[in-house]
Amino acid sequence: MKYAIGVDLGTSAVKLILTDENGVILRTVSKSYPLLQPKPHWSEQNPEDWWNGVCSGIEELTADIDKTAVRAVGVGGQMHGLVMLDEDDRVLRPAILWNDTRTGKETDWLNSVIGKERLQALTGNIAFAGFTAPKILWVKENEPALFARCSKLCLPKDYINYRLTGVFATDVSDASGTLFFDVAHRCWSKEMLGVLGITEAMLPAVYESEAVIGRTTALGLCADVAAGAGDNAAAAIGTDTVRAGQCNISLGTSGTVFLPTDSFVQPDNPALHSFCHANGKWHLMGCILSAASCNQWLNERVLQSGYDVKAGDPSNELYFMPYLSGERCPHNDGDVRGAFLGLTHATTREDLQTAVFEGVSFAIKDCLALCPPVSAATVCGGGTRSDAWMQILADVLHLELHVIDNEGPAYGGALLALGLRHAPRIKAVITPNAETAAIYEQKYRKYRQLYPMLKDFYRQTP
Ligand code: XUL
Repeated sequence: MKYAIGVDLGTSAVKLILTDENGVILRTVSKSYPLLQPKPHWSEQNPEDWWNGVCSGIEELTADIDKTAVRAVGVGGQMHGLVMLDEDDRVLRPAILWNDTRTGKETDWLNSVIGKERLQALTGNIAFAGFTAPKILWVKENEPALFARCSKLCLPKDYINYRLTGVFATDVSDASGTLFFDVAHRCWSKEMLGVLGITEAMLPAVYESEAVIGRTTALGLCADVAAGAGDNAAAAIGTDTVRAGQCNISLGTSGTVFLPTDSFVQPDNPALHSFCHANGKWHLMGCILSAASCNQWLNERVLQSGYDVKAGDPSNELYFMPYLSGERCPHNDGDVRGAFLGLTHATTREDLQTAVFEGVSFAIKDCLALCPPVSAATVCGGGTRSDAWMQILADVLHLELHVIDNEGPAYGGALLALGLRHAPRIKAVITPNAETAAIYEQKYRKYRQLYPMLKDFYRQTP
């Protein structure tokens, strides 16, 4: 038998799957690594930890098969992260991740001095703290000696592909999140490179996601490696979200809504990202910085409950703002923080659980409200493990949800590497309950009032 490996280089762990040559999933492995948050707003990881996770994951995945029968590898990865290498390809500092919001000043500078309109004309997008361009400006300003030693810049999954193949490459979907990539024309933006003071020679060569960039002989493999994709585009391939009118919702560390488009679209509201898809076309995306990670925080850190708390009554008056790492879409505010509002002596663990499920679902609704209308959506990611949450999400969005039975991005990575498309396995179809949906319509209206009321609070110095 011949095999393929799909990799999802996530924020909490790297997830790897082994498929046969027809894309049938045979085995899944996950290797976690630390998230470094040494200062408020900072979020970093060591690329060496990613590489070690990938290596031990591949070893485990292929322990009892002929490794040379693995024909193709495809990696999907957390987007936007800045990996810097010196001239000997040594990693210069921990990677600065997509949910790091230290770059408020640089983001404001890009949006106001270069200007949102110019940024959109050059790249298709405005600046967000998590994007790669403001991170480069931050390192130049705060670690100039280190920046002077930088000879290569790349994204997280590109670092893994470089270690696998020795080929310095990226793909169009991941490059889209840098803010120095011209999304409409699928190439680096020379003008933006000038703004940032970097050269194209420092950057990986750009490929379409399915293209083979090279061959790996690492770890006893002998396999072609695809350019791969950003994790959301890879998840969209894994969930077969490839046609206009479709929508995939991902509930991982981040939460995203992903809508394919046939051509490049400049969204009316620039809080939505307009990026290249991994299928040769484009997509719109809204991203919240904390989704299933809010539920993990509540259950592991606060309630220490082992995820045994049942969701409670939707008509209680408890609200949760899911901004544990600040917010991207729609508010583009790295300073805002999470909150419970409406606590009383009667508030129970079940109420807290319900409020977290609802708050994240409301934030997803905020993103979806900016998008063209859809009549159903697939849902993937760790959040799909809770049936209660899936019902709340369907009720809040008033949308039929098709819950996917695979690790979206890892499966998408394998399909890209195999050059295949597959209808995903659906483990449940959730239809909204009209009565609860009506309650949530009211509750959402009140939720929408919270951010405008609280945003200035976080800007005040004590
Ligand atoms: C997308 C984004 C996140 C990361 C998470 O813009 O920042 O979804 O890709 O891995």
